[in-house]
Amino acid sequence: QAKIKIISSGKYIPKDVITNQDLEKLVDTNHEWIVSRTGIIRRHKARDEETSDMAYLAAKDALDKSKYNIEDIDLIIVASITGDQMTPSVANFVQKKLGIKHDCMSFDINAACTGFVYGLEVASMMLSSGKFKAAIVIGAEKLTRITNYEDRNTCVLFGDGAGALLIEPSEEENRQAYFYNAAKIDETDALTVVKHIKMDGRKVFLFAVDIMQKSIQKVLKDANLTIDQIDRIIPHQANMRIIQSVSKAMDIPMEKFKINLEEYGNTSAASIPIALDEYMSEENQENKKIILVGFGGGFTYGSALFSL
Ligand code: ACO
Repeated sequence: QAKIKIISSGKYIPKDVITNQDLEKLVDTNHEWIVSRTGIIRRHKARDEETSDMAYLAAKDALDKSKYNIEDIDLIIVASITGDQMTPSVANFVQKKLGIKHDCMSFDINAACTGFVYGLEVASMMLSSGKFKAAIVIGAEKLTRITNYEDRNTCVLFGDGAGALLIEPSEEENRQAYFYNAAKIDETDALTVVKHIKMDGRKVFLFAVDIMQKSIQKVLKDANLTIDQIDRIIPHQANMRIIQSVSKAMDIPMEKFKINLEEYGNTSAASIPIALDEYMSEENQENKKIILVGFGGGFTYGSALFSL
């Protein structure tokens, strides 16, 4: 396990929105169905911004909120399934846009919606090796580029955006971070992207409710904590009913979950860091104990428990 200090967070949300009423004009759906089955009211859509532009702006926001500058950064990890192109990676573009010319390792991770939690574990382990000074971990997606606006089963769900976290290694005992990341590969067909997102929503739903519980329990056990000692759970923002089902099954009050999916929809790897940035922007969050928990295509899944 690694000890990490959270320095700051950032996000970038494109201005344009797609409302449920907009979608009513594209497919056979309606506002009431979308809200009652998903909780989503709007999602944001990038116009000219590429994934790397959004990732860069989220990273810049995190840097601007800290006392750090680009000289301090020597590791950039971006989680995304919608990179601008195969190579250079989104992280390479972020490094370029930030103007980092000194030695800096930058690369992408593809673990679908769990990508940010995977990336955070990878960065934390690399920082704890003692070789790196500070890392920016980013989740960034332009999902509207791979959404089929003729498929009502999927087009109501997804949006664009980016979130970032600036971290450094720590020696302090209370900075211990606990991670649980893995994949289950017997349902690889349930959520795929070749050109467009294709999904068996029921299968994803059932998997998500089960694996989120296991992932939360695993990090709590490893940290020897109970749920009452956790200030907030920041889940992947896919569907309100998934979060409600987890809340009910584990007897955790809904207020413990940070939820913003009504505004952004599902932004895949960006959803957890965007929600985390909103949570960290609230007052007096220092030393708060939080759990991040995600799931996504693959199926991948994972959780992280640490103090702010
Ligand atoms: N508007 C109106 N009706 C719709 C719509 C829509 N947008 N979409 C589906 N329906 C219909 C279906 O066709 C079906 O009709 P039928 O009974 O005549 O066949 C009916 O609604 C019920 O469909 P279900 O799929 O059973 O609806 P469900 O309650 O499961 O909700 C949903 C569907 C929202 C997709 C849900 O299953 C879900 O959220 N699953 C998880 C999805 C998810 O989290 N995906 C992201 C994973 S993360 C990643 O890696 C990208």
